[in-house]
Amino acid sequence: MKFDQAREALAGIPYIRPRAGRILYQFILDAGVADILELGFAHGTSTCYMAAALDERGSGSILTIDRPAARDLEPSIETLLERTGLSPFVDAVYAPVSYTWELMKIIQAHTVDGRCQPQFDFCFIDGAHTWEADGLAFFLVDKLLKPGGWVLFDDLGWCMSDDPRLLAYPSTRALPREVRDTPQVARIFELLVSQHPDYTEVRVDEGLGRAWGWARKKGSDQVSSGAVEVHKRLRGLLRRRAALLLGWRGARSILRRH
Ligand SMILES: C[S@@+](CC[C@H](N)C(=O)[O-])C[C@H]1O[C@@H](n2cnc3c(N)ncnc32)[C@H](O)[C@@H]1O
Repeated sequence: MKFDQAREALAGIPYIRPRAGRILYQFILDAGVADILELGFAHGTSTCYMAAALDERGSGSILTIDRPAARDLEPSIETLLERTGLSPFVDAVYAPVSYTWELMKIIQAHTVDGRCQPQFDFCFIDGAHTWEADGLAFFLVDKLLKPGGWVLFDDLGWCMSDDPRLLAYPSTRALPREVRDTPQVARIFELLVSQHPDYTEVRVDEGLGRAWGWARKKGSDQVSSGAVEVHKRLRGLLRRRAALLLGWRGARSILRRH
């Protein structure tokens, strides 16, 4: 699908603006990105821009994750995917807890002999915008990102105190002022991503209305032998714990019967 067709179909739908959508679209075509992970889809506007690029190339897939509340948005991601005909490229997952919990399951599903097999060429992180959620998300995404893959953070400059809807919640107002006033994605990008020894080509893209942070994972897929050892030991420990638990339950049921 051409960018202009996508832009027409998505006109006026939050959140990503057409100018930023075009950058995302072009990046996917130029960088040869095929397997995409997105954290936070809301209406699915950014998802559709990315899927339009995959459709234009004729291959690739997007796994995108949000909360169940996103189902009730008007339009929903399903409506937009149907409207644009881009559903074959997208798997939208609703995470009852958080995308970080879903990422744990994905890492577990792709762990073979103590090594997580990377799955994605690109991850767009545009969800919680908090240190706790997205700081963890970065390290989880790192495990799933192929060597040479890219990560992109939206909204580097955003603070909780910028958002009147968020400030309407007593739980937000109860947070220390420092937390409300800190641009948390910027802190993640500065302190976790740009200082990470495996990331290169780190840059901040301003002038889109919302600052973006790009970083590229280095080309090596080496995992320390320590990780393999830890995996083996933990597997043994969990097995022993399960056996102990079963033994204890068995003993308890025998005692009950007598
Ligand atoms: C800014 S919107 C996403 C916009 C979308 N990427 C776009 O540009 O069209 C952020 C989304 O992240 C979701 N979100 C925030 N924290 C989350 C979490 N911990 N797990 C899953 N989804 C989360 C919200 O429900 C919201 O729909």
